[in-house]
Amino acid sequence: MLQDQALAIDFGTSNTAAALLQDGAIHRLAVEDGQPTLPTAVFFPADEGPMKIGSAAITALIDGEEGRFMRALKSVLGDPLLHERRLISGRRRSVAEIITAFLQHIRQSAERQTGQPFRRALSGRPVQFHSADPAKDAQAEVDLRHCYHAAGFEEVSFLAEPEAAALAAATPDAKGHIRLIVDIGGGTSDFTVVRQDAARTAVLASHGLRLGGTDFDRVISVKEVMPHLGLGSQLRREMGDGLLSVPTAPFIDLATWAKIPFLYTPATRRMAADMLRLSCAPEQLGRFAQVLDLELGHDIAFAVEAGKISATTGSDRPVIDLSCLADGLALPVTASGIETALSDHQAQINQAVRDTLARAAVRPDDVAQVVLVGGSSLMSMIDREVRQICPAANIACSDVFTAVVDGLALATGPSDKLVRAG
Ligand SMILES: Nc1ncnc2c1ncn2[C@@H]1O[C@H](COP(=O)(O)OP(=O)(O)OP(=O)(O)O)[C@@H](O)[C@H]1O
Ligand SMILES: [Mg+2]
Repeated sequence: MLQDQALAIDFGTSNTAAALLQDGAIHRLAVEDGQPTLPTAVFFPADEGPMKIGSAAITALIDGEEGRFMRALKSVLGDPLLHERRLISGRRRSVAEIITAFLQHIRQSAERQTGQPFRRALSGRPVQFHSADPAKDAQAEVDLRHCYHAAGFEEVSFLAEPEAAALAAATPDAKGHIRLIVDIGGGTSDFTVVRQDAARTAVLASHGLRLGGTDFDRVISVKEVMPHLGLGSQLRREMGDGLLSVPTAPFIDLATWAKIPFLYTPATRRMAADMLRLSCAPEQLGRFAQVLDLELGHDIAFAVEAGKISATTGSDRPVIDLSCLADGLALPVTASGIETALSDHQAQINQAVRDTLARAAVRPDDVAQVVLVGGSSLMSMIDREVRQICPAANIACSDVFTAVVDGLALATGPSDKLVRAG
């Protein structure tokens, strides 16, 4: 093993993986139970026991253990919310501290498995953390670097996630092939065009959008689930005649993975109780109040995600199972209904692919291969879009959850196989 070797970490919105290069070969670390990835999720037991991480955190939530669950921590990087301290299971903590503890867990687990200390990290980063806000985007990398340092890594470098995936897809026999990487993850969509030669992967252009599976979940939840919790219903005025619409913001937050924990405050619970008192749809708004009281927001988000995955992977009778809210409550969903709901996002991804090719000065017909990466690329609408844009390309879709960490591990090696075309 090399002295002072860097640990490759793909810190994802939904899943995280770590790997290193061993004798020139990629060695993925089994951060939990022999699996190459772990959910980027944490759980703080109410009894102030130690933080649970990954699948253990999800199990604690599903088993209804008392405590606070959090996921999609990466989405908060670059936002002032990152440093807000909230009371979580008996202690005031910020999301920055929680990300730090998560990264520290990855480092310690890698050190235990390999018997060597890791002082250096090579981390993936999306091409854009915040595609609509350059200042927030720059801040997000500063924030993530800070978390790595606080987690005990003295040196941290970053590589764009789709560029890492391009390195993992490199083939020694490709002679000047143009390859397009499309990485649709939990929080971002990232695109890279490379020219692949025997020895080199030359990056022609990279591009990114802050759009991913967690956004798809939000859209589906707002359309399919939130009306059953009172979104779109009306309230009587406290004084005077007439009706008011319920505010939409708390429902959108409840449908947003990263925002859910911030709803569990006395102020929002009071607001829900006030709305319920004045509601014209007490059954639905009663559920909203119940979700805040019993902290069921993540149970709903998991139900939406599971419904999305089963509908888009051709399951027989896909449903969003809301039995956590009411016995037997299950909302049927269809792949076509989900695609209609996501049509704006689909169009944004289509445009981003075209923009990436234009930035690379590559015609769609010249793309020899499209490599699909990221869990959300398993949706058939993504496959369809890229086939429509690049009809001549062969579509490769394997290792969608590990291509980025594999490429990061390769990039920790001594030879510079990834170059920027100038
Ligand atoms: N079969 C599937 N169909 C649709 N979506 C899926 C499927 N499998 C996983 N997903 C979605 O993929 C996302 C997770 O993908 P992935 O692990 O690649 O993201 P990530 O790397 O953690 O996120 P990011 O790179 O954006 O930070 C989740 O939103 C999940 O719902
Ligand atoms: Mg990813």
